Amino acid sequence: MSSSRPIVIFDTTLRDGEQSPGCSMNLSEKLEVAQALVDLGVDVIEAGFPIASPGDFEAVEAIAKTVSGATICGLARCNEKDIDRAADALGHAADARIHVFLATSAIHREFKLKMDKSEIIERAVAGVKRARNRCDNIEFSPEDAARTELDFLCEVVEAAIGAGATTVNIPDTVGYATPAHFGNVIATLKNRVPNIDQAVISVHCHNDLGLAVANSLAAVEAGAGQIECTINGLGERAGNCSLEEVVMALRTRHDVYHADTRINTPRLVPTSRLVSGITGMLVQRNKAIVGRNAFAHEAGIHQDGMLKERSTYEIMRPEDVGFTQTDLVLGKHSGRAALADRAKALGFHLSGEQLDNVFNAFKKLADKKKEVYDGDIAALIEQGAAVVADQWQLQSYEVQASTDGAPRATITLSRGSEEKSATVNEGDGPLDALFHAIEEITGVAIIVRDFRVQSATRGKDAQGESVIEAEYNGQLVRGRGVSTDTVEAAVRAFLNAVNRVAVGQARDPKTRPEAV
Ligand code: KIV
Ligand code: ZN
Repeated sequence: MSSSRPIVIFDTTLRDGEQSPGCSMNLSEKLEVAQALVDLGVDVIEAGFPIASPGDFEAVEAIAKTVSGATICGLARCNEKDIDRAADALGHAADARIHVFLATSAIHREFKLKMDKSEIIERAVAGVKRARNRCDNIEFSPEDAARTELDFLCEVVEAAIGAGATTVNIPDTVGYATPAHFGNVIATLKNRVPNIDQAVISVHCHNDLGLAVANSLAAVEAGAGQIECTINGLGERAGNCSLEEVVMALRTRHDVYHADTRINTPRLVPTSRLVSGITGMLVQRNKAIVGRNAFAHEAGIHQDGMLKERSTYEIMRPEDVGFTQTDLVLGKHSGRAALADRAKALGFHLSGEQLDNVFNAFKKLADKKKEVYDGDIAALIEQGAAVVADQWQLQSYEVQASTDGAPRATITLSRGSEEKSATVNEGDGPLDALFHAIEEITGVAIIVRDFRVQSATRGKDAQGESVIEAEYNGQLVRGRGVSTDTVEAAVRAFLNAVNRVAVGQARDPKTRPEAV
């Protein structure tokens, strides 16, 4: 039997993932995701960047106070204020880590930091020491490591470990590395840095060339012991290494990597759905592991092979990643217990009030639709996840449109005990008219940049799932809505985006911290 070594899974969905445009989450959503990450079995949760905004500080502090079962990490640039702020936010964590970063590549040194090599080493050492005074568990990242001169990278890493870093993370910040190149970077650090045994080598790969997972795996082969990744591969630009893909690659090809993680893989699909529901960022159908088509066999020759012996065309079982094998059908006579049971099988743990809300929505849906499939239930629960506190709710709408003349739309919304209606007689079509009416009531005007509707399940009466990407003051906001009526799904998605703006959830790019 081959020996196996443990790989630490460091999830940064709540930090790097949340930095992706339109993916910002509110406090209760972040707490829900953090708990889901613990249930998934991640080792370290990067909960946020406390200096970035009061909201980020509050979220890291709340997660540190209430979430146990994983190390809670906060990010800081290599300066005193950032480090102190991160340490303060993490003060109540049972198990905390401060993650300090400083760019090291020539291009960042010259143009962004205007610092020479010796100043970088000095700053890195001072930052790690300051963080170490507040916490025993310190991660140091030489930002843009993949484009840093290897000799200098070795020097910085040695100095950071000497100053007390317990993990040294090697980021491919701009997604420039290739597998052989990146594997060589890790092997060189292992061979050349004299005190490398005193720290865990971590990797943090971005996906600009679609190589984040491949680069992370090459790093593991070369000796890395921690992978930084995100649910659904969320993250800056093209995203980060996808947690579900890298974990299943390690597991499925154990013969190659001889490495294990603590990830409870049947939680992958439910966690992916939760994050997609909260952020409004749909998972592409053919996405490896968690995409709806990831296990769908269409070609007759494949189906024939599968019926004879699954392993002819299947390298993983759908149930191993959390797809339920049966697509049990519920109907209008199904009760709360049956719904709760189905939700549980799909990986959702519904609390009393949450279960009440989903059950009410389920009853309405079952009245319209004879058969309610797993996908319908997941969509209803995810829609619940997209609900924003203090939001406007849709009460009713009416719309008339034709090829000649302007559309006419009337909409009624409520917020708490307040109810308001608006009628508009303008717009490029029925949806545009409905959106104008929503803007008139809420006073929030957003510009729709992208709009999609897809079916949540099969059949003619399938629910439509709509996602809207809109712009508000230069910021991207997403909204998501589900209904058997595609117009209503679009209205709900638009309203969800407007609600996010109304509660101040769209992140203002001007609040981003400066480089140093
Ligand atoms: O991509 C990057 O370099 C980062 C660092 C903060 C680790 O996200
Ligand atoms: Zn990153």
